[in-house]
Amino acid sequence: MTTEPRWKRARGWADLRGRREGGLAFLLMRLTGIGLVIYLFLHLYVLRLLAQGPEAWDAFIATAKSPLFLTLDGILILGLLYHALNGVRVTLLGLGIGVPLQARLFWGVMALTLLLTGVAVYAIFALTG
Ligand code: HEM
Repeated sequence: MTTEPRWKRARGWADLRGRREGGLAFLLMRLTGIGLVIYLFLHLYVLRLLAQGPEAWDAFIATAKSPLFLTLDGILILGLLYHALNGVRVTLLGLGIGVPLQARLFWGVMALTLLLTGVAVYAIFALTG
């Protein structure tokens, strides 16, 4: 039985040392999962503006079209795509499908995430500009 405090043992999941693809995939999955939960609450908080009438909403939309906000949208899409695509990878592995290929699947997830994020960010800036 270790005498290390519980919080020190718990932070081990964020320790990248000695990790390979599977460990990195897990760490990114957890970080993006936490990020999505935080985003969900921010999103609900912003939606309350709808109850304050069209002026409040239009003012928010004007801010949301700023380059800083659009960049944050890009970061959100990056995290969401990684989480969703790696979620499919984790589900397949859980079903026993592609287990020997798990590291290569991780890099495939990363490549697809970056590609789709690039397309999405291009579309966001092109359509909003
Ligand atoms: C796009 C659809 C999504 C898919 C396919 C998906 C899939 C998954 C899977 C398979 C896991 C388990 C990972 C593992 O056991 O290693 C997971 C964990 C998690 N997901 Fe999602 N998810 C999705 C969307 C979301 C959303 C929208 C949120 C937040 C609002 C979210 C938050 C989380 C959190 C907090 C975890 C726990 C991470 C951990 O404990 O390490 N997910 N997701």
